[in-house]
Amino acid sequence: MNVKSAEFLCSNTRTDKLPELNLPEYAFIGRSNVGKSSLINALTNKKNLAKTSQTPGKTQLINHFIINNEWYLVDLPGYGYAKTSRSNRDEWEKFIRKYLRVRENLQCLFVLIDSRHEPQKIDLEFCQWLGENGIPFLLIFTKADKQSNLRSTQNIAKFKKALLEWFEEVPEVFLSSAETHLGCPEILIAINDINKN
Ligand code: GTP
Ligand code: MG
Repeated sequence: MNVKSAEFLCSNTRTDKLPELNLPEYAFIGRSNVGKSSLINALTNKKNLAKTSQTPGKTQLINHFIINNEWYLVDLPGYGYAKTSRSNRDEWEKFIRKYLRVRENLQCLFVLIDSRHEPQKIDLEFCQWLGENGIPFLLIFTKADKQSNLRSTQNIAKFKKALLEWFEEVPEVFLSSAETHLGCPEILIAINDINKN
């Protein structure tokens, strides 16, 4: 699938102000700084569509983008930012869980994981929670350009193994880089396939 157009639509702090449920929706979630906003820019070939930053906690709102006038791509605030207060963390939990509950048009959630690290508890627990709540998700391992392919492959294998403690099958996995655009065509194909069904 080619991205012919990608436009910012709206930012929300409240789930009752989100766009209508009339188009299929795909959202990016994961730890703060994992590269959600950067990957949205890479997928859409637009440098500044989603705001990125070296400082974790940049994305604070639910940001909707409309692609090819056919589907929504959503940039979400990250979890696990160490400097966030307990009340902020609770707020994130409530806000994002509510988003995940009310978006009946959410076809698939992409959980982004930093390919440089061994499996982290916070990511595994989040995937477990998605499984328990029946929220469909795929995995994207980000920042592949930062280390050897071997290291990425090893970390992905360890993550899959850890997931198999809770899941009978591991969801589809992508390796990506916002720098080299590795994985972008495959992610767009996956979205296109879901849109067609
Ligand atoms: P929050 O909005 O804070 O949750 O972060 P985010 O997940 O949206 O991360 P963001 O896209 O803002 O990227 C965080 C930092 O990582 C920025 O400095 C990016 O330039 C960098 N970065 C993101 N993806 C990649 C990548 O694939 N390769 C490299 N080398 N750097 C990346
Ligand atoms: Mg962001």
